[in-house]
Amino acid sequence: MSTVVTSEKIPNNVDLSSDKKLQRALEAWQPKFVDWWKQMGPEGFQEDDVYLRTAVSVDSDGWAHYDYVKMPDYRWGIFLADPIPDRKIGFGDFMGQDAWQSVPGEFRNILRRLVVTQGDTEPASVEQQRLLGAICPSLYDLRNLYQVNVEEGRHLWAMVYLLQSHFGRDGREEAEALLERRSGNPDKPRILGAFNEPCKHWLSFFSFTYFTDRDGKYQLLALAESGFDPLARTTRFMLTEEAHHMFVGETGIQRIVERTVELMKKNKNEDARAEGGIDLPTIQRFINFWYSVSLDLFGGEISSNAANYFASSLKGRAKEEKYEDHVALTQVMNIDVPIVEAGAFKGMKSEEVPLRNAMNEVLREEYVADSQRGLDKWNRVIEKAGFSFRFKLPHKRFHRASGIYAGLTFDPEGRPISREEWEAKKDEWVPSPADDAYVLSLMQKPIYDPNQMANWIAAPPRGIKGQPVNYAYVRHEA
Ligand SMILES: [Fe+2]
Ligand SMILES: [Fe+2]
Repeated sequence: MSTVVTSEKIPNNVDLSSDKKLQRALEAWQPKFVDWWKQMGPEGFQEDDVYLRTAVSVDSDGWAHYDYVKMPDYRWGIFLADPIPDRKIGFGDFMGQDAWQSVPGEFRNILRRLVVTQGDTEPASVEQQRLLGAICPSLYDLRNLYQVNVEEGRHLWAMVYLLQSHFGRDGREEAEALLERRSGNPDKPRILGAFNEPCKHWLSFFSFTYFTDRDGKYQLLALAESGFDPLARTTRFMLTEEAHHMFVGETGIQRIVERTVELMKKNKNEDARAEGGIDLPTIQRFINFWYSVSLDLFGGEISSNAANYFASSLKGRAKEEKYEDHVALTQVMNIDVPIVEAGAFKGMKSEEVPLRNAMNEVLREEYVADSQRGLDKWNRVIEKAGFSFRFKLPHKRFHRASGIYAGLTFDPEGRPISREEWEAKKDEWVPSPADDAYVLSLMQKPIYDPNQMANWIAAPPRGIKGQPVNYAYVRHEA
């Protein structure tokens, strides 16, 4: 078990005080991080006591400590999962060699890129969600939002630790730049598309934490296999926190669906909107949107970058041990590739792609299967209520902005359609400004009374850490 030091300025289990130079660099970055948090983190509520869990160690029963804390005083720390003694690299060209404790010189640039790209998503999501407190459905949900936010802040710390400890001057510059880019800002946007999309209300927030945080899970699983051991250990611990973010999304949508079917039963036309709820087709459109922008995050279907990451033993597949062959030099994957001639779409053809070049697609397929599980649960709620509507994940080709399907138009079943047909039908498939306006209109009156829940969402079955649902999870004077 690694020793945990929580008395220092930066809580850590990496023996930070033994490396004075690194400690000084991180302590110099800390106030800049807190400035960023106050400026770009949750709007309002910064002086309120929030019932949060804080990582204080990495052992399975003791890492989460629950107490009231004001968010700017949250103890963001550096925690790596305990090392696996004599760990060997599990895939790629360096399979079987000792895991690297320092950065291999020839992979320095691509490894830095991987760390920066992962790191950039963490503050981005906090920025996307910064206004949601003003329209929250309950104190329980408000607390969950802030739990997710402080942990994304800690994930940024995790990546900044790697940059500062292993990438010298470049790493320090990247650490600064992570605090300078801004989600949705056209001049200095965040690196990946989904992290620049506005998250205007709680239906988007729950969809984001279900679908976009789940991309995070798969990226972290792939990086947890890394031959670069500090990255593997950091991401392994981040995964324990990520599980809660997806829980917030899955149960959030589930509770909306529960309330919606209740309202449909109340109304003689089964009209949830007439009762002040969110109708099922609207929820489906937000599923379509956040799922498709999250699919983009996995990168191109056929990718030499992905092949390089795998070959250099830096980024593996999720749970690499479940595969038989970890070198992936002889297999292929069949991918449906659009045939485009002189700018015109001519149809699809199946192409055999060397497996290493298809690693993004391998990871995306796992994500697709995992995403389906939530829909199955939500559909059971609808079925039990006696309604015939069912949620469906759109086809992988639908509404894509990167990869081989970008720039082409497909319907939710994956059938190619004309641009005119897309324009005519898109409001049925992805949220329109009117959908956003409607959903937002339901949330205009935030709920800060612990005994109340907004009309459009059901109460959760239980509270946090054994506390009742109506616990004052955030002490806020309305
Ligand atoms: Fe994260
Ligand atoms: Fe997350």
